[in-house]
Amino acid sequence: MKLHLLGLPLLLLGRAQLFADLPFDLILGCPTDTSVTVSLLATNNLAVYLEYGTQSAVYTGQTTTNAVTNGVPSELALSGLGKDQQYYYVVRYSANGAPFSAGTEHVFHTQRNRGSQFTFDIEADPHYNDTPGTVPSVWQQTLTNILADQPDFLIDLGDTFMNEKYYSATNAYTMTQAGLLSACAAVRTQFFNIPGHSVPLFLVDGNHDPELGWWLSNSVPQANPAVWGARARQLYYPCPVAGGFYSGATNIDFYQQQPRDGYYAFEWGDALLVMLDPFWYSDQGVSKSSDPWAWTLGTNQYYWLKTTLENSTAKFKFVFAHHLIGGSFDTLARGGLEYSPYFEWGGLNTNGTPGFAAHRPGWPMPIRDLLLANKAQVFFHGHDHLYVKQDYYASGVSNGSPDLIYQEVPQPSHYPYNAIAYATGTNIGYNYQSGVFYGSAGHLRVTVSPTNAWVEYVRSYRPTDEGPGATNRMVSYRYAIPAPATTVSQPYLTGVGWSSGEAHFSINGTTGELHTVQASTDLTSWTNIFSTNLSMTPFSWSDPGASNYLRRFYRVLVAP
Ligand SMILES: [Fe+2]
Repeated sequence: MKLHLLGLPLLLLGRAQLFADLPFDLILGCPTDTSVTVSLLATNNLAVYLEYGTQSAVYTGQTTTNAVTNGVPSELALSGLGKDQQYYYVVRYSANGAPFSAGTEHVFHTQRNRGSQFTFDIEADPHYNDTPGTVPSVWQQTLTNILADQPDFLIDLGDTFMNEKYYSATNAYTMTQAGLLSACAAVRTQFFNIPGHSVPLFLVDGNHDPELGWWLSNSVPQANPAVWGARARQLYYPCPVAGGFYSGATNIDFYQQQPRDGYYAFEWGDALLVMLDPFWYSDQGVSKSSDPWAWTLGTNQYYWLKTTLENSTAKFKFVFAHHLIGGSFDTLARGGLEYSPYFEWGGLNTNGTPGFAAHRPGWPMPIRDLLLANKAQVFFHGHDHLYVKQDYYASGVSNGSPDLIYQEVPQPSHYPYNAIAYATGTNIGYNYQSGVFYGSAGHLRVTVSPTNAWVEYVRSYRPTDEGPGATNRMVSYRYAIPAPATTVSQPYLTGVGWSSGEAHFSINGTTGELHTVQASTDLTSWTNIFSTNLSMTPFSWSDPGASNYLRRFYRVLVAP
């Protein structure tokens, strides 16, 4: 257990509306197989510690007591946890030396094992403070609905903090460090803290958020709105750091002076989840280009994506970004399937001629083809403020399961509901011509099991807006993605030997599949002695119990 106090300037907030009962709010982040980070933002100077356990109200673990300062987010790491476990936790707090009080009990789940069914939620483009078009109470309704889903985590696909949209010469505050901190704080204390105590949050960068390549400066590389935006996000939200559980950038970023945390990936149950960030790496330190080929992941992120997809044996591979890496020809990066053949994403020039080799010399293939080659099932994107599910068949023939689904994620905050311009897409230049369309508001709920992944569109209606055909949390559309049929090869044991009182050998089989080693002394009665989802093949293992027997036979089976 450790406490991180981040050293950015104290920002005093007017947030009387925030914490109805308690002098703090909570945002969970960075869940792993053994840990979770709890960010605590207090409205008073407090002494705090956490109690936690695997049964409600039975707390077997406790952190040390830490002092937290009014208005400064503090990160408390709960570590040493068990994998695939539901945990219950409570904050104990004291002000001015008073006896400790208990906060409300909350929950979280550590990384799921393969084969363990789970749910996660997705939202895109909440557009804080973007009125008319969004309404705070509608976003709050969606976040309340997300909490009710009890998902293992929430992914927000960006256009969340919105400083880029509100920047102007007369409102330069939005692009100062104070202005960027203020937006991150407001979004936390008015919105994300609704599910944040029990639903770890993953953030993905959007074009209206401040972390934009063209907001970087090569003359003041460490003091510009893009860098300040990254710092503000990192202060208010626990963000995954690459190395260990999460993969991502490990090289020191020239601007941030630390590894950039805009793109990252992790596995959870039977799914690989990959978050992409084209914004930091496009037009770095120069004016925004008018050429859609300027949209790029950059070389490091591209090859990291390639390796991440290739190395994963997960049944489901989901890729997330705010929008296509290219998209519409006007550099606004609109659209889904119709614009997918072009630029870094699809490889073609606007006139339909191949352009990838000339524009990305040495890169093996366009991003879309990386996804297809590695059997990614869904690209979840936002940006266009509607629900569109589009099926892509590489052969051009629509039969069976699509090779890749383009899933445009609706807005959680949109009002009035179902605006036609957004529900069709075609009349606002986004060029959606095929697929399943719905308007906003709502979020996606994805349930992953070993045999299927279900994607549901859950609608948001405030109580006063409900009526015929408009029920809060109703599901407008759902579809299933079948797990790929795996070809399981006959497992076998090789290299049997004896050393240090243990029998050792190698298990050969199919990576990702559950293999069980059984032992016997008479070749008739067999006992399970070891099981693993084979992480590699051959897989070395030794039997520490072997010396207890005069002779012991071994065999390996797929499945328990
Ligand atoms: Fe956007």
